[in-house]
Amino acid sequence: MVKVSSDKNVNALEVKQTDAEGLYPDPTDLLEKENLDLDVLGSLVGQSIISVGQFDKKLVLEICKFAALLEATEISRSHPLDGKIIITAFFEASTRTRLSFESAVLRLDGKIISIPTGKVTGVAKGESLADIGEMFNSYGDLVVMRHTETDSIDELQTKLRLPLINAGNGSGEHPTQALADWFAILKWKPELKNDLIEEKDKIHLGILGTPGSMRAVNSFLRMSLLFKSGVRKITIISEMADPLGPELEDQLNKSGIESSTTNDITEVLSDLDVVYMNSIAFLGDSYKTLDSRFKIDETSELKKNAVVLHPLARLDELDPIIDGTNHNLYFTQAHGAVFVRQALMISVLNRFDRIPKESLHLKKIK
Ligand code: CP
Repeated sequence: MVKVSSDKNVNALEVKQTDAEGLYPDPTDLLEKENLDLDVLGSLVGQSIISVGQFDKKLVLEICKFAALLEATEISRSHPLDGKIIITAFFEASTRTRLSFESAVLRLDGKIISIPTGKVTGVAKGESLADIGEMFNSYGDLVVMRHTETDSIDELQTKLRLPLINAGNGSGEHPTQALADWFAILKWKPELKNDLIEEKDKIHLGILGTPGSMRAVNSFLRMSLLFKSGVRKITIISEMADPLGPELEDQLNKSGIESSTTNDITEVLSDLDVVYMNSIAFLGDSYKTLDSRFKIDETSELKKNAVVLHPLARLDELDPIIDGTNHNLYFTQAHGAVFVRQALMISVLNRFDRIPKESLHLKKIK
């Protein structure tokens, strides 16, 4: 779709006009010959999805394979969520997460009731999240919530009896974003799903921001540790002296992956295979943007085959000039989020029986 013409290790950008900008790897490259493992996916039935800590590598891989199947086939035509009502409760602004969840549900023939802003609920009159959770029990089958407060999940769950998917809780976690991130990475480099990976195929991950207080990078880093067999090194790029905090630092150290921290992106950029950009953190009661030094544009010395991820929304840190290059994996990241969220909701709501058996035979797709 988009070509980089340089044969040098460091890239010279060549931007080509196409319908869809960026890299869109073939999802069937992620599929294997055997069927989906419904026993693994079945562990999600009736469960809430709150934290990356709930996942192991096998479960992430099975969700991504299911998402690849949904992306590559017409399974949605078998109405997997027919008769189910999903409540999307967004007490904090969102473009991608709310709309991709709602698109995912509607394409599976489920129904949506939506709170696009807390101002349209009793919160505006001082109502508690616990009481709102009690009400949700009568109105739907699954709740997807985004909130400004990290402890909002606990408060809602004091009364909620439905499964809950955390769509971002304050400076806590964003587990379905991490699934969308790794779905994009695995489509780009399917060999990363293996436990034995040649040294030359291992990747150096660069993560911009402060995982200790930014939910998307927090969840991305946690999930990256599950793929340690394919990660050569992780570099955190941040202006903060302690961007991880003690708990994440401990997990990173225990993973055995080589890691470092720098406040100078130019020091490491030309060695990175994946650059995870970020821009906005919701801290306390306001948004904080990254330091303006952390920017990728046409002057950036990206490795020839490096890819850039970004949960978006972006500001100045990611120049739109990158959109038309094959470094752009961030549009496929947002695109694939629909299928990852479909895979999760079909699993949590136990609608595997709605999928035609022949569709689960991955061999036929390859
Ligand atoms: N990636 C992400 O969480 O984007 P939104 O804030 O638009 O949902």
